[in-house]
Amino acid sequence: MSGLYLHIPFCLSKCAYCGFYSIPSTKRKADFLEALKHELVSRKDYLHGEKVETVYFGGGTPSLLHLEEIEDIHKTLHDCFEIDPEAEVSFEANPDTLSLEYLSGLRSLGVNRLSIGIQSFFDNDLRYLSRKHDSSHARQCLDLAKEAGFENISIDLIYGLPTSDADQWNRNLDLFFELDIPHLSAYALTLEPNAVLTKQIEMGKAMPINEEDSIRDYEILCHRAAEHGYEHYEISNFSQLGMHSRHNTSYWFGIPYAGFGPSAHSYDGKSRQWNVSSLERYVEASSVIARSVATRQSTVAEKEILSPEQQYDEYVMLRLRSMWGIDLNDIKREMGERFSYHCEQKAQPLIAQGRLSQNKEILYLNDDQMLFADGIAEELFW
Ligand SMILES: C[S@@+](CC[C@H](N)C(=O)[O-])C[C@H]1O[C@@H](n2cnc3c(N)ncnc32)[C@H](O)[C@@H]1O
Ligand code: SF4
Repeated sequence: MSGLYLHIPFCLSKCAYCGFYSIPSTKRKADFLEALKHELVSRKDYLHGEKVETVYFGGGTPSLLHLEEIEDIHKTLHDCFEIDPEAEVSFEANPDTLSLEYLSGLRSLGVNRLSIGIQSFFDNDLRYLSRKHDSSHARQCLDLAKEAGFENISIDLIYGLPTSDADQWNRNLDLFFELDIPHLSAYALTLEPNAVLTKQIEMGKAMPINEEDSIRDYEILCHRAAEHGYEHYEISNFSQLGMHSRHNTSYWFGIPYAGFGPSAHSYDGKSRQWNVSSLERYVEASSVIARSVATRQSTVAEKEILSPEQQYDEYVMLRLRSMWGIDLNDIKREMGERFSYHCEQKAQPLIAQGRLSQNKEILYLNDDQMLFADGIAEELFW
């Protein structure tokens, strides 16, 4: 069992808050597609023939690719990997790039899950975030996705915005529930080090954000999602029963995946590697590939073999964020007793402080501690 991730590094423009690797121009799209094909072919053995159960087109903005370009990638993927006919194939899309024809085309190319970056259904929030779409686009594209036959739809929303009070956030959620969308990824607005918004706030040119707003919105979100029967299966992810993202869940379960494109990460069960976050260097390296795969690897990717201690820390970090929690039996079986012992010992004071709960061999984060998961994980680290 394994997964594939493809990073499509183009956007129409760069959103002020975004820290993902992408460039606001499609000028080098043809070069990128050629390089991507090279990378897929050259790394087709990365997963050792494991069946692929999930494919994820992320970005950037994958919906800037034309249908013929996606079809071409699709062919290469099937030539290089054994993809389960029942695989989950997810595709990230921006509201301003979608038409009924395009969405129907995606469906016929085998895309069966759509993740749309709505961010907010309100124009004042969208302007603050410098999004290219407006609230009517946001509504419209969801109607189009349903009309094209998509049932497995997810939207992204951002909360903790200074342009929104509790009432507006509630109304954003009202719309989400009314539209009966099966999956929500909701993120607290984070100030990324190189993002324009971070600099604008520092210079007093944009409204600052504050943590209390995020905490308030997150509490509202958790409460309302539970009321509507959504499973809170990871800190930022909520789904109707059985509609969780299989691809993202497989990251938390340590299932191997191969990532392609600039900045994409891969994990083979023992080591991690990540491609360079530069389209220039990524494309350049593809011309080297004909000569030597090894040269390409050293040119575009960095690799780290995880020590048992790092594997333990990663497990703790990822599983603490999920509703499945940390299974001490898993740790004992996969990493050894010294790690499960360490984890249980470190957990005791956190349980006493009401931050964690233990049910038999499983450690869970308490509901009101979700936003502090990273700090709590650090307390459990090796
Ligand atoms: C890979 S991004 C892009 C998806 C798509 N290009 C779009 O913008 O609609 C996935 C999601 O991460 C979230 N995100 C990106 N930067 C963020 C930030 N600084 N704070 C909070 N959420 C962020 C947004 O909700 C975004 O939709
Ligand atoms: S949020 Fe999405 S559209 Fe905006 S710059 Fe980031 S990847 Fe591109």
